[in-house]
Amino acid sequence: MTNSTKDYLAAMFDLSGQVAVVTGATGTLGGAMALGLARAGARLGILGRRAALVTDRVSAIEAAGGEAIPLVADVLKRDQLDSACQAVLDRWGRIDILINGAGGNAADGMVAVDGSFFDLSQDGMQRVIDLNLMGTLLPSQVFGNVMARQRTGCIINISSLSVPRAVSRVVAYGAAKAGAENFTRWLAIEMVRQYGPGIRVNAIAPGFFLAEMNRPFMVEDDGSFTPRGQAVVEHTPAGRFGDPDELVGAVIWLCSPSASFVNGAVIRIDGGFGAFSGV
Ligand SMILES: NC(=O)c1ccc[n+]([C@@H]2O[C@H](COP(=O)([O-])OP(=O)(O)OC[C@H]3O[C@@H](n4cnc5c(N)ncnc54)[C@H](OP(=O)(O)O)[C@@H]3O)[C@@H](O)[C@H]2O)c1
Repeated sequence: MTNSTKDYLAAMFDLSGQVAVVTGATGTLGGAMALGLARAGARLGILGRRAALVTDRVSAIEAAGGEAIPLVADVLKRDQLDSACQAVLDRWGRIDILINGAGGNAADGMVAVDGSFFDLSQDGMQRVIDLNLMGTLLPSQVFGNVMARQRTGCIINISSLSVPRAVSRVVAYGAAKAGAENFTRWLAIEMVRQYGPGIRVNAIAPGFFLAEMNRPFMVEDDGSFTPRGQAVVEHTPAGRFGDPDELVGAVIWLCSPSASFVNGAVIRIDGGFGAFSGV
């Protein structure tokens, strides 16, 4: 590669000096996205509730030569998000990127194997809806407000293939992610109209990736797939689960100058799952 090619690519995708907050950065996908952003030059606020894991992720980024600070907070608690936001501003004075990576399912928010939709508890469904919908709205308010003042910034939400297609059992999760995807478009328009074209809001829609949240539903104790895990692989044309690092390129692109005209988009990263008819 010539130097001019390297310079050209660096100018398109380099995130040097940008300040990014990743919620759910203690998780599988959020952790990979945070490390990827750090490798691309961003300084990271690592947000999650589990303090020990937050510290581990900060150390991993520092070990890779990056800069990161711990933000122990619950995405459903406004006061904790406000404190986290202040900590980032105290350290770096700005916020350029927000990845709303916190989310997931809960056993009591989904229809049990051989269970019935009619037996689902209100509390269980509410928790899943709160985490995936309110847990995206609230951080967008808190950190997005800084972007509005700066008139520049990039927010990435996490949608799901359970939005365009019904995925069995995960009723509250699919509904909440549909809300988060709709919110992506709503906020994209609101930000650009109120605060100018320097702020963009997009989403990625990962296919199936083995993570803390879903592993017990996909993999047996002996490492073989559960019937559900097997069905996922069979319906994924790539024939496998995704690797969390396979999200990073799209995230860097969406945050970079090369995506300056990409707004309100949902980018599927799914090994073809969403494109496949099943036949
Ligand atoms: N894995 C997949 O196949 C897949 C597919 C499509 C979409 N997604 C979405 O991708 C995102 C990341 O999921 P993942 O697969 O990486 O799951 P994961 O490994 O379970 O990570 C989820 C993270 O969310 C954080 N979290 C949960 N509740 C929180 C709260 N109230 N406040 C702050 N953080 C909270 C957890 O951190 P703490 O416990 O430390 O707070 C956890 O580390 C989720 O939105 C998920 O719905 C996943």
